[in-house]
Amino acid sequence: MRFDIVTIFPAMVEQALGIGVVGRAIERGTLDVTIHDLRAFTIDRHRVVDDVPYGGGPGMVLKPEPMFGALDAIARDSGVAATVILTSPQGTPFTQEAAQRLSRLPRLALLCGRYEGVDERVRARVDEEISIGDYVLSGGELAALVIVDAVARLLPGVVGDEQSVVDDSFSRGLLDFPQYTRPAELAMRGPGSGEREPLKVPDVLLSGNHADIRRWRKREAVARTLAQRPDLLSAAILDEEEQQILRELVAEREKP
Ligand code: ADE
Repeated sequence: MRFDIVTIFPAMVEQALGIGVVGRAIERGTLDVTIHDLRAFTIDRHRVVDDVPYGGGPGMVLKPEPMFGALDAIARDSGVAATVILTSPQGTPFTQEAAQRLSRLPRLALLCGRYEGVDERVRARVDEEISIGDYVLSGGELAALVIVDAVARLLPGVVGDEQSVVDDSFSRGLLDFPQYTRPAELAMRGPGSGEREPLKVPDVLLSGNHADIRRWRKREAVARTLAQRPDLLSAAILDEEEQQILRELVAEREKP
């Protein structure tokens, strides 16, 4: 899959993409990311990317011509047409489902917004506008990086263990169960920790009983989702056992 990212901070995007799972996928060629410096597409001597808003008001607006120039270059650059995405707080919310849908496309162009906004006419060449959450970032670069990461890890061969992607939180609409690694017992540290019991891994995980472990994990995942994100449960895909666990947990909560 190919990504094109248009930004006024190419160094920021490049650095972030060089590490971890995404960095390795780019190195191996599973993922192709081209970063385009918006300033390279300016049309004036001073390489200006922004200007004051018509009608007045604070802040600066990203000019349309450099964005159009970048999109023209992206279109010329390969035979595969890109789906053009603008990152902005006005966009539709980015979800795991959106990541899955985008991962089936051959090429995405991500336009990073900045300052107070982007000239509205840029939207004439945008297929989708995406927000990564109901808060305002100072620019779209972090949003674009979030989208690349979430989409890339769904592509075959990017994450080593395919099952870990299938089991991920949100792939079925449930939060993850708790995970532990060695040691099995850990002395509590920090203020007032002298009298505290050691922190132990739940016995069931040390039992070697796989059926019990599977049931415990299901119960924990459903319990966590009920406690922290009950809004997810209406759309979650639960098997019979999980549905039964949910009924029990809800009944327990409703007990006087
Ligand atoms: N740019 C600024 N804030 C943003 C957000 N929440 N999502 C996507 N792009 C943004």
